Amino acid sequence: MAVIALKCPGIKVSVVDINQARIAAWNSEDLEQLPVYEPGLKEVVAEARGRNLFFSTNIEKAIDEAQMIFMAVNTPTKTYGEGKGFAADLTYVEQCARQIAEVATSDKIVVEKSTLPVRTAEKVKEVLHSNKKGINFEVLSNPEFLAEGTAIQDLFKSDRVLVGGEETPSGQEALATLVSIYENWIPRKKILTTNVWSSELSKLASNAMLAQRISSINSLSALCEKTGADIGEVAKAIGMDSRIGPKFLKASVGFGGSCFQKDILNLVYLCKHYGLDEVAEYWHQVVKINDYQKNRFAKKIISGLNGTVNQKKITLLGWAFKANTNDSRESAAIYVADVLLEEGAEVHVYDPMVKKERIHQDLTTLWESKQFSSSAIISKLERCQVHSQYTPALKDSFAAAILTEWEEFSSYDWEAIAEKMMQPAKIFDGRNVIELNRKFNQYFIGR
Ligand code: UDX
Repeated sequence: MAVIALKCPGIKVSVVDINQARIAAWNSEDLEQLPVYEPGLKEVVAEARGRNLFFSTNIEKAIDEAQMIFMAVNTPTKTYGEGKGFAADLTYVEQCARQIAEVATSDKIVVEKSTLPVRTAEKVKEVLHSNKKGINFEVLSNPEFLAEGTAIQDLFKSDRVLVGGEETPSGQEALATLVSIYENWIPRKKILTTNVWSSELSKLASNAMLAQRISSINSLSALCEKTGADIGEVAKAIGMDSRIGPKFLKASVGFGGSCFQKDILNLVYLCKHYGLDEVAEYWHQVVKINDYQKNRFAKKIISGLNGTVNQKKITLLGWAFKANTNDSRESAAIYVADVLLEEGAEVHVYDPMVKKERIHQDLTTLWESKQFSSSAIISKLERCQVHSQYTPALKDSFAAAILTEWEEFSSYDWEAIAEKMMQPAKIFDGRNVIELNRKFNQYFIGR
């Protein structure tokens, strides 16, 4: 929304949230305090805030004043009831639609920005039209394709902007209104208009296809390790085929982040709902291979340490789900740490951006979902120490495992580090970022 405000000075953009602390942070004088870290974001906020970009908790006023409302609420995977563990939880979407219906006194265009299951717009429309005030609501789908860490650049120069609308005259009019906003900075030929269902499905499908590439290359990395082929060389050879392309073929310890797994599971649920069991199973396999890869990496550490990590210090370098973010949602590190702690290891973590509280919270959330008792959680957390410097994290360690591709990891003096570790030092590189060095034992993905 900040980018819309920046690029369209004539449009007043109000960002509203019930969370007062978050809104206060968005309004903070000190731009370092913004609740989201993204390169370039603070410059955008600095220019537009107070001019035509406003952050507030006054949701009702904002709804009433707006001609167009973007719904960007959270849609986590359901943790209860029908579809548990797969379907998107639409509680917040429905609450939001209800509030709009209650408060609105004039016609509105409602834009789905959250990633939603196909045909959610239908449900949103039903809720909106439950108002008895004779107000018309047009529902558009406008999914977001930005990636973390490059969000502002992705928004400035989108590969495409997708807008789905109903094929009625009023639906097409609403669609044209949203297109005209994006036209302020996106070339018209990159703005794709579709029906609502295609737009909703394209977002899920896009993430599923990207994740599928990673699971495909990761599955081949296992075969490389058995056969002596090198996954880096294989990926390069595959990617040079212009029909395939080189992006998203980097073998890793497994993909993480708030979107890939959630969206695929949602897709799987949708397929099952429509009785497409084979299709559901096909996409489910992408998540299963990702789980397999994370587990395989943890097991590789254990077998590299003579089959036991009990009471051994193991250092995890990186906790974020990818470099240049402090976001650790669904990060592979959480699952690798879980396996090692279960096997009795003393886990030491260093990440340049993720704080101890976050790391312990990630593990606590995982263990609570497995219904561990609070005393078991507390005693396990005592075996997970977090460091703000990498040297103490690595000293006297039996093994170092790289889980995030932070640039600094490749520039460390690994020979000097290896000397300070327990001998023989073992480095497990889950991102293939450090140079081959025969002076210590190295284990890569797919080599
Ligand atoms: C993703 C999509 O890219 C974006 O379009 C969508 O809007 C949201 O989900 P994001 O989760 O921010 O964005 O990160 P992304 O850069 O896609 O990486 C996801 C995960 O895949 C990370 O854990 C990353 O390390 C991993 N990855 C990515 C690989 O393991 N190998 C690759 O080749 C690329």
